[in-house]
Amino acid sequence: MCGIFAYLNYRVPRSRRDIFQTLVKGLQRLEYRGYDSAGIAVDGTGKDQAANISLFKKRGKVKALDEELYKNESIDLDAQLDTHFGIAHTRWATHGEPSAVNSHPHRSDKNNEFVVIHNGIITNYKELKKFLVSKGYDFESETDTEVIPKLIKYLYDNRENDFVSFSTLVDRVIQQLEGAFALVFKSIHFPAEAVATRRGSPLLIGVRSQYEFSTEQIPVQYNCSDSKKAAVEEKNCRNRQGSLNALHSVHDGMAMEFYFASDASAIIEHTNKVIYLEDDDVAVVMEGKLYVHRVKRTAGDDPVRVIQTLQMELQQIMKGNYKAFMQKEIFEQPESVVNTMRGRICFDRDTVVLGGLSDHLKEIKRCRRLIMIGCGTSYHAGVATRQILEELTELPVMVELASDFLDRITPVFRDDVCFFISQSGETADTLMALRYCKKRGALTVGITNTVGSSICRETDCGVHINAGPEVGVASTKAYTSQFVSLIMFGLMMSEDRLSLQERRLEIINGLKKLPELIKEVLALDDKIKALADELDHQRSLLVMGRGYNYATCLEGALKIKEITYMHSEGIMAGELKHGPLALIDKDMPVIMIIMKDSCYQKCQNALQQVTARHGRPIILCCKNDPEISKMAYKTIELPQTVDCLQGILSVIPLQLISFHLAVLRGYDVDCPRNLAKSVTVE
Ligand code: F6R
Repeated sequence: MCGIFAYLNYRVPRSRRDIFQTLVKGLQRLEYRGYDSAGIAVDGTGKDQAANISLFKKRGKVKALDEELYKNESIDLDAQLDTHFGIAHTRWATHGEPSAVNSHPHRSDKNNEFVVIHNGIITNYKELKKFLVSKGYDFESETDTEVIPKLIKYLYDNRENDFVSFSTLVDRVIQQLEGAFALVFKSIHFPAEAVATRRGSPLLIGVRSQYEFSTEQIPVQYNCSDSKKAAVEEKNCRNRQGSLNALHSVHDGMAMEFYFASDASAIIEHTNKVIYLEDDDVAVVMEGKLYVHRVKRTAGDDPVRVIQTLQMELQQIMKGNYKAFMQKEIFEQPESVVNTMRGRICFDRDTVVLGGLSDHLKEIKRCRRLIMIGCGTSYHAGVATRQILEELTELPVMVELASDFLDRITPVFRDDVCFFISQSGETADTLMALRYCKKRGALTVGITNTVGSSICRETDCGVHINAGPEVGVASTKAYTSQFVSLIMFGLMMSEDRLSLQERRLEIINGLKKLPELIKEVLALDDKIKALADELDHQRSLLVMGRGYNYATCLEGALKIKEITYMHSEGIMAGELKHGPLALIDKDMPVIMIIMKDSCYQKCQNALQQVTARHGRPIILCCKNDPEISKMAYKTIELPQTVDCLQGILSVIPLQLISFHLAVLRGYDVDCPRNLAKSVTVE
C-alpha cells in the first residue's frame, strides 16, 4: 500500500545530499508495504531554489529513484539548506497504471505551485475533476489524487483576501473531499511550511530537537467557521508569536526537525517522540513550530494530542543476518509468542489476565454470540481458534471475512461481541466492519499488533498481540501471536467454570512449553528446504487437513500462493469426496496434515483415498507416529502438543516451504507482486 514520508529541517543545516538520503531512506523503510513507483519533491534544485519545487518520480523500486537523483549533474548536492521541507511517497497503483506520471507527489500545475502526497482513495474525485476541468485546470495523470493539488490551487487563485494561510487552504480542500486520505502538502507560496492531515488513513509526526520539550501535549485549536474572520485571526496569531498553543521548547525559533510518515517504521531511526493525528486533524509546521487544529468541533473530541514515545527499536525492523524479513519473522516465533503471553499468563497460579479486556469481561460473558472478523491471515487466526473458543466460552462463535460480512449486511445486535483481528490495525474492510458493528451497538474488541492503529483506537477494548513489527508482506509471527491471544481470551473466559478446569490446565501447560516446541519445528528447516527443492518445478500444491488443523491448510496455501505465485489450495479433508478428489493423480503434490487428535482416524481415511488414486502425499504428522512411520511416504514429524495448539506448530513448516520456494524461484519474498502489507483500501 502507498507510503508517506516527509522531512522538514528548521534551522538545522543539511546538505541537499543529506536531504535526498533522508527522504530515500524513509521510503525504503516503507518498501515492505508494497508499491510500484516512487517520487519526491524538494525545493528547486536550480538557482532560485525557494521559488520553485523540483519533482523526481519513477516507476519501479526506490533504488531506481535514488539513482535518478544523482544522474542529474546540474543538481548541487553540496548546497547547504538551513531550513527545508521535502516530501516523498511510494505508490501502489489503484487509479491508473504504475508510471512516473501517475506516481506522487502530484502537482497543481506545470510550475509545481502546490504538490501533495496522498495515501487512500478519493471517492468523489470524478465530480471534483469535472468541476476543475470546467474552470480550465489541466490534468496529466489518471489518478484520483490529482484533484487535490488542483483544488488547492483553485482555492488559492480565488482567495478572497490577499492573506490566506496554507492551513486554511487545506481546511477548505478537505471539506470537499470524500473517501479516505492521509495528505502532506508543500507549496512555493509557503516556503518551509508543511501541512498534513488525515481521514481514515494513518499519519504520524515525529519531532526532534536538541532541547527538552516543555510540553508533552499539543492542545487542539478549532477553526473559526467564518472564513474571513478566520483569516484575520490567523494573521493576528502569526504576529503574536507563541500565542497559539504550539509545541515549543525553551527557545523560540529553535532548531527543530519534523518527520511525517504513514507508519512509525520510517520515523523510528530519527526520533521516538511522535504525535498520532486523528481523523480531520490538520497539522501545520510554521517557523519551526507544530500546531494542530480541527475545522469542526465534535462531541467527544480529545482536546490534546499527546507526544508519545515509540517503544520500537530500529533493530526490530532490520533484517539482521536473514535473507528476508519474512524468514527473520518466522524464526522470531519462539520469542514473539512469549511476548504475547508475557505478563498475562501466570504459569505458577494458572491464571490468565488480559488487562485490556478485564473491565468488559462481565459484559462479554453475558453476550449472545462472539463474531470474529478479519481478512486473509487474520481471518485464519479466527478459523484456527473457533473450536476451542466454542468449547471454553460455551458461546456460538461466528468467523467472518470482513468484506463478505459487509456485503451481506449481516445482522448484528447490541448483545453481540465482535472481535476485529488485524495485524496492521488499518485494513480498510476490517475497519469498515468495525464501524458497522459499533453503529449497531455491539461491543467491539480489537486484536491488533499496531499500537495507535485505527482499529486499536476505535474499538471499545482489546488485546495488543505484542508480536513486534512485522515487515514481510506475508504475515507469519502475527498469525501465531493472534492465535495465542485468542486462546488466552478463551482461558480467561473459562476461569470460573469448574467443569473446564482440567482442560484449561492442559492448555496452559501447553502454552508454557510452546516456545521450546516451536524451536524444535524450526530446527527442521534443512529438511523442509529439501522438500521445497523437490516441489520447485510444480505448478500446484494442495494442502489438506481437518478439525484443529484446517486453518493451517488455508493459511499454508495462502502463504504459498502469495509469495511463490504457485497455485495452492487449502482443502478440508472432510470435503474430499465432494469434489477435490478429482484433482488427485500421481502428479499432483498434496501435503496432508495428520495429527494425533480426534480427527486422526478420519484423516487416515482421507490419506487412503488419496493414495488409492496414486497420489504421493507429503505428510505433516506427530513425531514417532507408528502408523505413519511404517508407510513409505515423505513426512515432516512435528512435536505433539495439546490438540487446540497444534495448529501453531503445524503452520510453521508451511511458512518455511513457501519462503524457500520463493527464494528458489528468485522472487522478492518480502514484497510479493501486486500485494501490500497494509490494505487501506476496500
Ligand atoms: C497474508 C497477509 C494478508 C493479511 C490481510 C489482513 O500473509 O498478510 O492476508 O493477513 O491483508 O491484514 P491485517 O492483519 O493487517 O488486517
